[in-house]
Amino acid sequence: MTVAMMELQIQKQHDDLKNQCQVRERSTSPLIKIEGLAYMVLFRPDIEKAAKFFVDYGLLLDKREEETIYLRGLTAEHHIIVIKKGPQEVATIGLKTSEAGVEILAKEYGQPIKTHPEPMGGKYVTLIDPNGLTVEVNCNFTPLIDVNKEVIAAQWNNAGEKLRVNEPMRNTISPLTVQKLGHSLYSVANFKKTVHWYQDTFGMIVSDFQMLPGDDMPIVAFMRCDKGDVPSDHHTLGFAVAPELGHSHSAFEMDTFEEIAIGKEWMSHCDSDLKYKHGWGIGRHVLGSQVFDYWRDPFGDMFEHYADGDLFSDTKQAGYHLFSGTAQHQWGPKMTNEFKGLNRRWETVKSVFKRLPTKDDLTLSKLLKMMKAI
Ligand SMILES: [Fe+2]
Repeated sequence: MTVAMMELQIQKQHDDLKNQCQVRERSTSPLIKIEGLAYMVLFRPDIEKAAKFFVDYGLLLDKREEETIYLRGLTAEHHIIVIKKGPQEVATIGLKTSEAGVEILAKEYGQPIKTHPEPMGGKYVTLIDPNGLTVEVNCNFTPLIDVNKEVIAAQWNNAGEKLRVNEPMRNTISPLTVQKLGHSLYSVANFKKTVHWYQDTFGMIVSDFQMLPGDDMPIVAFMRCDKGDVPSDHHTLGFAVAPELGHSHSAFEMDTFEEIAIGKEWMSHCDSDLKYKHGWGIGRHVLGSQVFDYWRDPFGDMFEHYADGDLFSDTKQAGYHLFSGTAQHQWGPKMTNEFKGLNRRWETVKSVFKRLPTKDDLTLSKLLKMMKAI
């Protein structure tokens, strides 16, 4: 088959999937528009153990209170991970908007505008999404103090341009500070209702759908913020139909590929008694194009280092793609059982048996199609 014929075939598949898709790409009249993901609140029975993982993963421990730990990245806007003592749960995501946005939501949902205690500061309103996830929508955080970026190396000698002369390249293997919390993905019980809620409430746009052959309901949607002609990360939130409900993974942006490699080296060999589990990587995703490396924290939640992701403005139309195990990356090692969740068989089986008799999106036929695809 020629390249032109392959391109025609891919275009036809894209158009067929688009025509049958029962979930829309965007809302025409959202209540507000959000600007990004600010933070996550994690409940952990051992907050020191939880924080140790994030410090090894390149976050900076900014403030420790008796039952709460605040961690940050290089962005001085706000904290990105808040760990609170309690039974294990990914409890809350925090989104950013304008002051007017917070006021509109408070009025529409009949919720009070609250104030975060220091060191977070800022005003917020609390909503509950269709899956029961708490979503705090924030403005006017108390800014953090700027911190300096570690300089990891001298100039990169490209084939055509040699900038580093008489200066060997040497890296120190240590945690390199993450830039920001970039995105967070969740497995949900009611996919269509969830995607439409995030579109109608926050103006989020679907960048790419993934679908199963013959199904009119997608099983993955990557959603970005609508910042008009200002380019926005390919996805800030993502939703999927998967056997286990809840948090899938969340991702921290790094500057370069080499920072991701150094991060992997540190997590593999650092002198920690926590023995971190590698998830998957290093590779490059297809949808979003990020270079990625995944790790599980000591409580089983997955986190990602990523760099060089795509940016889309509001004019970019959604992509429609078939879901498969090989469609998730362009290069890199094969998707691992750890990443697929196959190392958590008991939790997966329990979840499937609990969900199949209910009316949520996970049906036996979908599950079989997903298993075949992956
Ligand atoms: Fe990701």
